[in-house]
Amino acid sequence: MERRTIGAAALEVGAVGLGCMPMSWAYTTSQQDGEASLRTVHTALDRGMTLLDTADMYGPFTNELLLGRVLRRRRADAFVSTKCGLLVGEQHIVANGRPGYVRRACDASLRRLQTDVIDLYQLHRADPEVPIEETWGAMAELVAAGKVRALGLCAVGARARRRGSRASPYEETIRQLERVQQVFPVSCVQAELSVWSPEALSALLPWCEARGIGFLAAMPLGSGFLTGTLTPGSGFEPDDARARHPRFTAEMMAANQPIVAGLRRVARRHGDATPAQVALAWLLAQGPHVVPVPGTKKERWAAQNAEAARLELTAEDLAEIAGLPPARGSWD
Ligand SMILES: NC(=O)c1ccc[n+]([C@@H]2O[C@H](COP(=O)([O-])OP(=O)(O)OC[C@H]3O[C@@H](n4cnc5c(N)ncnc54)[C@H](OP(=O)(O)O)[C@@H]3O)[C@@H](O)[C@H]2O)c1
Repeated sequence: MERRTIGAAALEVGAVGLGCMPMSWAYTTSQQDGEASLRTVHTALDRGMTLLDTADMYGPFTNELLLGRVLRRRRADAFVSTKCGLLVGEQHIVANGRPGYVRRACDASLRRLQTDVIDLYQLHRADPEVPIEETWGAMAELVAAGKVRALGLCAVGARARRRGSRASPYEETIRQLERVQQVFPVSCVQAELSVWSPEALSALLPWCEARGIGFLAAMPLGSGFLTGTLTPGSGFEPDDARARHPRFTAEMMAANQPIVAGLRRVARRHGDATPAQVALAWLLAQGPHVVPVPGTKKERWAAQNAEAARLELTAEDLAEIAGLPPARGSWD
């Protein structure tokens, strides 16, 4: 697979990564199967998807434990990208950016991942109670201690996008990034970016590109919608986050079908390509610093997503995708 270089630390990764979240978090629990997920991770590594994106809060903790079972044998094949800063409580998920917590969280992630170094350590969410410079300073100390190779910041969620506000999307994120850059270089930003959620294209992506900062595109397949395998009739079990998501009501899924139809039309021009592969190839075409991290727990999807790195969209394809209608339904 093509390799891409991200950030100040010049980290090399396969152009398409593997999002490990669906193996342990956010999607229907009854479909999660540890052994099948392990095979998926091996398949991804075999196909050159070196970047494995996880977080301590996925599970919580079980996603990192699962990856640890692969990494103890295949550490040299993988690029480990994990996160700290969110704690899963009984009722709520809360941010914790206190330096002491960050240090403990990193040691715990290293143990679970069965490795002595994390390639990319990301702040999952800023803690409104702690100046972000303090949190980032603690993360920078982890680099100095050799526990972490590079730092990243996640900007996912309503506050990052500021839907409905007059501020441009990600304005708040860019302010945070400018603050932490004074403390220690940011190697990578992780934010949602996909054909149906393109907001990061306007300011955040160019901001990263101008500074040589990598960009991990989270939810690149629109949580599965852009693959065309979900239909307005697809129901979601109550523990699946999409069951409460405004874009996944039957009405909105029907209203957004023209987007999938457009991806399908483009896919047909490329032989046996799939809408998922077109959605990923579109991301790869947004700049050499972009690395999509499609999430899956299934071997066959991981293999299919890896092939997207070979798909080169034409100017006609990109123009057709640019002309698709904007997604209906709030994303927050
Ligand atoms: N930093 C953050 O706050 C944050 C937030 C969200 C996500 N992320 C990262 O971004 C990654 C990707 O996001 P995501 O997993 O939520 O959404 P996604 O990648 O947009 O979509 C994942 C969904 O698509 C399905 N899928 C994957 N490949 C497919 C294919 N080729 N054909 C058909 N269906 C396919 C998966 O099904 P199966 O599950 O059945 O395989 C899963 O339901 C996560 O794993 C995580 O690493 C980060």
